[in-house]
Amino acid sequence: MDFKFKKYWRKTGLNPEWGNKLIKIINEKKPHHFLEIGVFCGVTSRNICEFLNLIHNGNFSYTGVDLFGDESNKNDEIKPEYISNQKFSNPLKHFYYNLYLKENLNSIKSVKKFLKKFENKISLHKGNSNKVLKSLNIEKIDFAFIDGGHSYQTTFNDLEIVHQNMKGKKGTIVCDDYEDASYITDVKKAVDNYVKKENLSLQIIDGKFAVIEF
Ligand SMILES: C[S@@+](CC[C@H](N)C(=O)[O-])C[C@H]1O[C@@H](n2cnc3c(N)ncnc32)[C@H](O)[C@@H]1O
Repeated sequence: MDFKFKKYWRKTGLNPEWGNKLIKIINEKKPHHFLEIGVFCGVTSRNICEFLNLIHNGNFSYTGVDLFGDESNKNDEIKPEYISNQKFSNPLKHFYYNLYLKENLNSIKSVKKFLKKFENKISLHKGNSNKVLKSLNIEKIDFAFIDGGHSYQTTFNDLEIVHQNMKGKKGTIVCDDYEDASYITDVKKAVDNYVKKENLSLQIIDGKFAVIEF
């Protein structure tokens, strides 16, 4: 496979090493309808769209859900510090995004612009996944990457609603930060409890990705 995960000079939740690991799993499953919970600045989204476009010749869809600045669940989650103040270690990025473009990379406007190339294939939704997912038609989804709110309840709810919609079909769910997130984590507890309750198979990749296949 000749595809390499790119950072696109933005801010990304997954570094290229982990991005490539995710792409490898996607390549094994070759899903057509992808859901990402926790879009952040859209870098993983863009890589996924580029990859699915390549392997399916345009025949794919991508759905993304993020708070995109919606603070309605602020008691429930610890959000990455970056989101509040858009700090960059690279001063050129600070100049370009904060002073010149005045663009908030974790806004739905910025991510839409960044994914413009795929505008007919994607749908982006702003809000808390605990509410938003209930209002979306996600029955077609055959691969979900869960990387939004990392509290126990949000992870469990995201998993539950996604899995219930995928039930009876072949599908894959990958949860990020199973063990080793630096800032939070009840993800492991939520994944373990859900998998046990539903009797699902679980594979852990290097302590980070929890892969659930059915
Ligand atoms: C770790 S970042 C996602 C990184 C992204 N998947 C990537 O690879 O670049 C987590 C994102 O989840 C969003 N988020 C946190 N809680 C959420 C919730 N309850 N519903 C929807 N999005 C949420 C945050 O706004 C943030 O952008």
